Amino acid sequence: MLAVGLRRISRFADLPQAASVLRSFSGAAAMRTILSDAAIHWGNVAKEVADRVVRPLSAKYDRLQEYPWEIQKEISKAGLFGVWIPKEYGGHGAGIVALCRVVEELSRACGGVGVLFAVNALGSFPVIIAGTEDQKRRFLPPIAAGEKLIAFCLSEKFAGSDAGGMRTRATREGGEGSDWILRGEKKWTTNGGAADIYTVFAVSDPESKSRRISAFMVEKGMPGFSIGKVEDKMGIRAVPVVETHFNGVRCGDERLLGGKAGMGFIHSMQTLDWARPGVAAQAIGLAQGALDFATLYATKRQQFGAPISSFQMIQELLADMSAKVDAARWLVYAAASAVDEGDSNVTRMAAECKYFATEVAMEVTTKAVQIFGGYGYMRDYPIEKYMRDAKITQIYEGANQIQKLVIARNLIKEAGALDHLMKYIPREEQCDYAAEAAAAKG
Ligand code: CAA
Repeated sequence: MLAVGLRRISRFADLPQAASVLRSFSGAAAMRTILSDAAIHWGNVAKEVADRVVRPLSAKYDRLQEYPWEIQKEISKAGLFGVWIPKEYGGHGAGIVALCRVVEELSRACGGVGVLFAVNALGSFPVIIAGTEDQKRRFLPPIAAGEKLIAFCLSEKFAGSDAGGMRTRATREGGEGSDWILRGEKKWTTNGGAADIYTVFAVSDPESKSRRISAFMVEKGMPGFSIGKVEDKMGIRAVPVVETHFNGVRCGDERLLGGKAGMGFIHSMQTLDWARPGVAAQAIGLAQGALDFATLYATKRQQFGAPISSFQMIQELLADMSAKVDAARWLVYAAASAVDEGDSNVTRMAAECKYFATEVAMEVTTKAVQIFGGYGYMRDYPIEKYMRDAKITQIYEGANQIQKLVIARNLIKEAGALDHLMKYIPREEQCDYAAEAAAAKG
């Protein structure tokens, strides 16, 4: 399963330093070995922006629940919005591993900022995966430049996990060849209101079983498009999450993703395969950020005349947190590599890393609050926000129950490759004496 990550390590298998590389799997040496130069570079750029701009403003925007334009400007100035966008469309073409490094470092300072950045990848992946050449040239360069933000409109009030159960309709009301008219409402549009572009999924052929849905590129200001309820959230409060309304939005075929109707559901699923490592990266960023604070605090906080880090029960907590964060991190980068390399089991790996890393984030951030004790529960300490921000990662871009369903479905699909092991499983046979006796009788 970790074939991609391991393939990269195995290049060093015959070199003297191989053993030490493997020994320091969780450290800087492993980073240098496994990650591309571009991923390391963009991760470092993100860390600089996170430390200089994001961390000092994180509590302010959590309190205000407002889009942090001053942070967005710095992320944009650093060139980070171009990381995952191919070079021919104005980006750096650094891929999904580099995107994950950036999301991890931003989330380590603020989970809300991590997602306000990552959701632009989610919104633009359908265009990269399936857009026409014209759509790529029109929509990707301004996103790469940080001039325009994008959002992804799939979920609805009554269609969350069951994404295909959506009700928003796209109809050629004027008959064959006329424009599409979008009518419906979307829920949980992250970045909604701040974003200029919206990738919107709608039912274009209600009679079809497998080709019911198409995607459309909608822009702010188009007649019939509006922002509805703005959600008041437990965490990730720096990024808006809203309802989006489409009341007669007119889209010509040039806004139909890929120029072909009926492929929307499949494109949405492929998009989620690409995007789930990003949520997992947000989770490891949050977990690492909480672990950083918990470790520091444990070495400073004195009880019973000694720093609490000298107590074995605190050490047990820290050790458990650290091991899990490292395990999750390398699973995330292996899955992101699978996307970059077009591995065939990317769907399962993306779901596995999203599931595992987000469970780790919830556990680690909760334990970090425990290490801070009563202070950890207080708003003026930086730690409870990590726990609030982590909770959503178990829910969005597919609840973890859906990730497990995707993992199991794909694992079962891949079972054919294990047929050669059948010869090691004894074949049981049972005599049916009753049938034999009946046969002998008559
Ligand atoms: N890649 C390519 N095609 C895929 C695919 C994939 N990963 N997964 C499914 N498909 C294809 C299937 O092959 C099938 O194609 P055919 O009709 O040609 O056979 C078709 O899609 C339907 O597949 P399923 O029968 O598996 O579909 P399903 O209805 O059983 O649903 C599901 C599958 C996995 C449960 C899916 O609905 C799902 O992922 N749900 C969760 C949705 C989700 O993650 N929503 C989050 C939205 S984003 C967000 O959170 C907001 C935000 O802003 C952050």
